[in-house]
Amino acid sequence: MVASVSPLGQTKAPAGTGEGRPTIAILDFGSQYSELIARRIRETQVYSEVVSYRTPIERLQTANLKGIILSGGPNSVYDEGAPACDPALWDLGVPVLGVCYGMQLMAQQLGGQVVRASRGEYGRAELWVDDPTDLLTNVESGSVMWMSHGDAVEALPPGFGVLAHTTNTPCAAIAHHQNRWYGVQFHPEVVHSQGGMALLRNFVYHICQCEPKWTTNTFIEEALTDIRQQVGEKRVLLALSGGVDSSTLAFLLHKAIGDRLTCMFIDQGFMRKLEPERLVKLFEEQFHIPVHYVNARDRFIDRLAGVTDPEEKRKRIGYEFIRVFEEESIRIGPFDFLAQGTLYPDVIESADTNVDPVTGKRVAVKIKSHHNVGGLPPNLRFELVEPLRKLFKDEVRKVGSALGLPDEIVRRQPFPGPGLAIRIIGEVTRERLNILRDADLIVRQEVNRSGLYDSLWQAFAVLLPTVRTVGVMGDQRTYACPVVLRLVTSEDGMTADWAKVPYTLLDTIANRIVNEVAGVNRVVLDITSKPPGTIEWE
Ligand code: XMP
Repeated sequence: MVASVSPLGQTKAPAGTGEGRPTIAILDFGSQYSELIARRIRETQVYSEVVSYRTPIERLQTANLKGIILSGGPNSVYDEGAPACDPALWDLGVPVLGVCYGMQLMAQQLGGQVVRASRGEYGRAELWVDDPTDLLTNVESGSVMWMSHGDAVEALPPGFGVLAHTTNTPCAAIAHHQNRWYGVQFHPEVVHSQGGMALLRNFVYHICQCEPKWTTNTFIEEALTDIRQQVGEKRVLLALSGGVDSSTLAFLLHKAIGDRLTCMFIDQGFMRKLEPERLVKLFEEQFHIPVHYVNARDRFIDRLAGVTDPEEKRKRIGYEFIRVFEEESIRIGPFDFLAQGTLYPDVIESADTNVDPVTGKRVAVKIKSHHNVGGLPPNLRFELVEPLRKLFKDEVRKVGSALGLPDEIVRRQPFPGPGLAIRIIGEVTRERLNILRDADLIVRQEVNRSGLYDSLWQAFAVLLPTVRTVGVMGDQRTYACPVVLRLVTSEDGMTADWAKVPYTLLDTIANRIVNEVAGVNRVVLDITSKPPGTIEWE
């Protein structure tokens, strides 16, 4: 594959007209919030990328770099071997904002002193503004900010002044106005920080002099040009799943290259009730994007006969997917390119990913687990088209909407590649798939009716194995399967909590399932958070 390099040196699809795009770089020191900072900056319509703190200065210099944010991190700056940035960074002449660890590093490298604080600060703290000019303009004194630190800046480096303090932290925000170096001990990026966005806006617009030009429309324009340039007159194959990523990708590619795009939808037989039919109909009739529909239901279910081990199930589904994909793409091919819905979090270069610091290329390339097309045999190698690889999920949704993708797809909750097969604990049979599909449909209908669909990350049913629990229906004892309700809230699927939905909703769902779904006589609620649980059961 021909790879070129993005503004800050991460590999990306070829032909980037977006090179030279004004960029704010987040130097990641291992903080869990680095990605969040990048997302917040992009909310101001300024482009931003997360890069490793080890990124050589020469690489930063080559980009149209407007500012640098040093992230937080789990270390103490005075620890042996603590991550540090190249001191040459201070000669770049671009504005720098240090957040938490980043501020302490700034203070230490520029001649100040960082010590273990007599009292750490964790959680909310009121910020008292001493200097409301530039960085803290429109940040009210007394705003609650989110803190998480055990160290503190005790002595400021030369040329620095204090912008704000808290009860426990005299230097909660600091600045060297002339050199445009700023530090904040709190986390302006987290939602609990009042005025955090105002602070970030001050930094990007007034201090870094960026303009709000990173918009959905600019992205689409650039992406269309890039795709046309990369693909030329050749043909592209896309595996459509019905999720927001592959659907947005389909729209974008179709707009760029029309019928040189082939969308293939492999129906494994594990989708939700009526979804395969609905998907094909939507694409073909409403959007006029032809879909090559492959009915592989029998193949997949046959492959799973007698299999109860979750890993084995996933493996067989993945293997079968590749086989079907291979056969079909040869049959209706040849294709030169394969389109993948890789997103920015899949490729993000951070302190703990395996990135070659010199070339900036990821050493182990992560391939989307969803369809695992990374497992294609050597005789079936495509060049990749990955136009969404610079985007966060919320940006993909905006692009999808702007391209005319309907809400039902744009807002669709995540659905795992192996589908209902990993929500049937034990053997997957046609009969059990039908039971789960019916129960699952009721969950979806009722969650939709309650108006809670958008506030939940996922809402679904899980079918337990044929441990038959006793019940009574009429005068008869019944033995049937239990269904588990899994309703969770989450920001990104990495952590999750069970959703505290109204009892009336649970009541309606449970009632309907036991009354309407033959084979189920009990409904239970999963109230496990992640961690330690996972969202899915297998
Ligand atoms: P877990 O169960 O690990 O799931 O807490 C986290 C998120 O990932 C989804 N998930 C998958 N998505 N292919 C996918 O595309 C898969 O094999 C897969 N397994 C889990 C899950 O639904 C949740 O949103």
